Amino acid sequence: MEKTVVNSWNEWDPLKHVIVGRADDCHIPPEEPALDAKVPEDSDMRGQWGRRPQETIDRANELLDNFAAQLQARGIRVDRPTPIDHSQPVTTPDFHTDSQFGCMPPRDVLLTVGSEMLEATMSYRCRWFEYLNYRPLMQQYFNEDPNFRHASAPKPRLTDADYRTDYLSEKIGIEKRLEWTADKFFVTTEEEPLFDAADVLRFGKDLVVQHGFTTNLKGIEWLRRHYRDHRVHAVNFPGDPYPIHIDATFTPLRPGLILNNPRRRLPDDQREIFENNGWEIVDAAQPAHNGPPPLCYSSVWLSMNVLVLDPKTVCVEKSEVYQAEQMDKLGMEVVEVELRDAYAFGGGLHCCTADVYREGTCEDYFP
Ligand code: NVA
Repeated sequence: MEKTVVNSWNEWDPLKHVIVGRADDCHIPPEEPALDAKVPEDSDMRGQWGRRPQETIDRANELLDNFAAQLQARGIRVDRPTPIDHSQPVTTPDFHTDSQFGCMPPRDVLLTVGSEMLEATMSYRCRWFEYLNYRPLMQQYFNEDPNFRHASAPKPRLTDADYRTDYLSEKIGIEKRLEWTADKFFVTTEEEPLFDAADVLRFGKDLVVQHGFTTNLKGIEWLRRHYRDHRVHAVNFPGDPYPIHIDATFTPLRPGLILNNPRRRLPDDQREIFENNGWEIVDAAQPAHNGPPPLCYSSVWLSMNVLVLDPKTVCVEKSEVYQAEQMDKLGMEVVEVELRDAYAFGGGLHCCTADVYREGTCEDYFP
């Protein structure tokens, strides 16, 4: 019998089916060209690599399992990836890396637009094979849903030509980094199309894509040519010294309302499309924490990395009390989810999920 399994056009329509990542066998990847440039200069991640401590993996899995159960209790179908052995090295004709990363977070790898799920090119060598964790699910959806399209963007070569040596040489300093990101001078070059799926936000007919460390202009152009029925907009956030993934920076909550990280303000000329169409962009609340948890790549702004369940309901990390309070004031019902001890595995509630099915169709929010 025909049934639609895959359908999702935006970040807020009622969620019915989602993938939640797993922490199994997650590794801190070894040195590779752009990795150092992407890790904050004061981070405890610097110089570390290898399999993450088992007790942290177990704790993260406990939280991810609980989150999955919470979603299921609300009637949402939840699927989980099948971890590959991330300790395996990767060798291609162009590069070698001694280990991989993990199957967290799925949002970075899979981009669902309508009935298609697209595997991103990715831009880290250690994440080159990460799509394999999701292949059993892709096969299952392919078998279940005759309209499902499984697509994969061209695998990049990721030679040294993909990375700017200016970023690789030494400690750069925050002022220089901010100057460079304001000038859109990022660690990735324009050698070939590169994008991570978590740099893309879906607004129906419009796709908003962050140009930064993990997505280059050629990657955005590739997306433009791929999604021919969409309008693809490049955005950038000059206040972010490490522009990696858009979902702790710009968070649509429902038609007409977006949270923007107050430290990473969307420039005026890029706000026009939203403001001319009656969308309000409000500053996100301050994070509840002064620093990220141990061995975490992300900033404290995972506070705004929320998962919208429908235009009136949002999952917020349990300790992020200011973010929850703001959601309440904005008229959203808050579902508290404990996840902070899993942040180190690649992010928050939006990161650790990937949409499979949201009700609704492709609408034009910026006519
Ligand atoms: N680079 C981002 C992570 C986004 C999920 C941040 O740390 O703010």
